[in-house]
Formats: sequence, structure tokens, C-alpha cells
Amino acid sequence: MSDPRGVIFDLDGVLIHTDELHFHAWSQIAKRLGIPFTREDNDRLRGVSREDSLDIILALGGPEVSATEKAVLADEKNAIYRRLLGQLSPADVDPAVRETLAELRRRGLRLAVGSSSKNAKMILERTGLRESFDAVSDGENVTRSKPDPEVFLMAAQFLALQPAQCVVVEDAGAGIAAAHDGGFPCFGLGDAAQHPDVTWRIDKVEDVLEHLAV
Ligand code: BG6
Ligand code: MG
Repeated sequence: MSDPRGVIFDLDGVLIHTDELHFHAWSQIAKRLGIPFTREDNDRLRGVSREDSLDIILALGGPEVSATEKAVLADEKNAIYRRLLGQLSPADVDPAVRETLAELRRRGLRLAVGSSSKNAKMILERTGLRESFDAVSDGENVTRSKPDPEVFLMAAQFLALQPAQCVVVEDAGAGIAAAHDGGFPCFGLGDAAQHPDVTWRIDKVEDVLEHLAV
């Protein structure tokens, strides 16, 4: 590819480790429904919307649930999750992540968030990360969640760039599939590093600096 002009970061599991908070909130809902729910099950919810996450949990052996009851359960999970998000502060962001974002900007790259979450803006405000980004594309501005590419296509549009001029950083298989489908080269972290459509495998966020050299 030619030199990228923008970097689109997934939020949960890449910029901040909210995974444990999602796990805690979903565990309470699963317990109430009598569904065994493990951390491995929680990993399958990475990048997946709240509604699709509930369907995955119910498929683990839950009772039949109507559409209305599903909406109530999803709202309850979100209320628990948002109470937990209330404890987030700038100290929850790895200094290496903050420094990586600053360095990318010094190199003249435009930065965006591309997240499935409808809580992304709250998380960015609470952690003081919002000002590190030129644009935010999240669960509030899309109609289709990852693995659909819509959230990344919107992020590129907000940055006034084409997909091929951007790179995506992701920790979820659903996010890698979304990036690939949208025509974005992508970095895969953690479990996502094993996905066949990853362009570069990395161990930590700061590794992007080696690949996006000046
Ligand atoms: C993604 C998370 O970023 O956002 C998923 O990886 C989560 O686990 C999804 O389900 C939706 O989040 P929210 O905050 O809108 O419930
Ligand atoms: Mg993620």
C-alpha cells in the first residue's frame, strides 16, 4: 500500500480494557437466566453489538425470550455496564497507548475511533482520550454492526479519506472481517492476530509505530 494517511482504532480491548466490565455485566444477566457464562464465552462477544451479544449468550442454553424481553435484558446489561464505566478515569489508559496516539499525530496521521459501542463517547470522555482523535465513528452512527464494515467506512469518511488510505487496529475477529470487507489494511492484536485476513500481527498497540514509520 502507499503510505497511510489515517489510522482507525477499535476502542474496547485496544485503547482500553473494558472487557472485564462487559464480562461482569453480562455475567449478572446470564446468572439470572441460569446460563453458564465463562470468560471464553465473553471473548466471543468482542466487537459484536449489544443485541447480537445477547443472542450469542441465549444460544448457550437460555430460555425462549421474546423480542420485548430481549430489549429489557439488553437495557439492564447496559445499566450495569454504565455504572461500572462510571469508575473509569484517565489512569485506566496505558501511557504507551497515549504516547502512540501522540506520536502518530506528530507524524501527520489523522486518527479516528471505529467502535461498535454506543458508550464509546462516554468512555472517551471519562478517560480523557477524546482529544487524541480527529473523529469518532461508533454504535450511534451505524445501522449495521461489525463484521459489517459500516463503522470503519464512516470513520474514513469523517477523516475525509478513502479506505485504502487508512489502516485499522483491532482485537476482534468481527473487526478484522469488517476491515477486510471494507478494503482497509488492518493490524490484529491478541486473538484477532490469528485471523487469516489480518495484514500485520502485533502484540501491543505501540507496535503500529514500527509499521507506520515516517
Ligand atoms: C464493542 C465490544 O466494542 O462494543 C463488545 O467489543 C460490545 O463487547 C459492543 O458488545 C457494544 O457495546 P455497547 O457499549 O454499545 O453495549
Ligand atoms: Mg475490540
